Amino acid sequence: MGSGIPRHIGIIMDGNGRWAQQRGQLRTQGHLEGLQAAKRIVKAASDIGIKYLTLYAFSTENWKRAADEVGFIMGLVKQYLRGELDFYRANHIRIRHAGDPAGLPPDIAAEISSAASDTGDFDGMQVILAINYGGRDEIVRAMRRLAESGSVELGNITEKDISAFLDNPDVPDPDLIIRSAGEYRTSNFLLWEGAYAELYVSAKFWPDWTGEDLAAALHDYQNRERRFGGVAVNGVK
Ligand code: FPP
Repeated sequence: MGSGIPRHIGIIMDGNGRWAQQRGQLRTQGHLEGLQAAKRIVKAASDIGIKYLTLYAFSTENWKRAADEVGFIMGLVKQYLRGELDFYRANHIRIRHAGDPAGLPPDIAAEISSAASDTGDFDGMQVILAINYGGRDEIVRAMRRLAESGSVELGNITEKDISAFLDNPDVPDPDLIIRSAGEYRTSNFLLWEGAYAELYVSAKFWPDWTGEDLAAALHDYQNRERRFGGVAVNGVK
């Protein structure tokens, strides 16, 4: 028994630097091409009817990179949000953010917030941009918000309480997490939400990704059997 179309896909877009290095180009060129790949995949996912797509664009650890590379990626985020507004409108795509806005340069935080409010009423696919995002950081911030809310005694906290204070509590857990560029790790991405996600690793560097690669990942996912810690419906393991 396979699984249908995933409701929520998370993508770790890795390999921009290696893609550029292989061509003797600057890492920033890899990110530029990575942005084009992100656009292709957003379009393909929306056409397929995916409801939620989380893109890991910048982690809480990525601040360790050279200042010019960090600045370049932030510039790309801004360019992406501004340049795609007509596309979001045409495709009813809603933009959201996961991560800590307080740690972002104010102009980037403002740009994300304005894209989120401009597209807030759209009922098509939701694209969640994980920027200044770390799974552990999200859990810590959720716990702080939970404590501040005073809604539950520390000793009585349940999983549901923690989920309710995550960055986007209404978004369902990812069914599938994709990673490009061949590394078999989740790198602090959707730690809480991804507890039961299927993982798909592709050797291809992110800038080379097209809708066909997404289709291949979905095909692979559809042949998986998800048991969520239980046994198969027909009792066969
Ligand atoms: C990982 O490749 C990629 C990043 C840290 C940045 C991802 C950013 C983009 C694709 C552009 C912005 C996208 C959107 C949707 C706003 P890497 O640099 O770690 O590659 P490497 O492991 O080969 O060095």
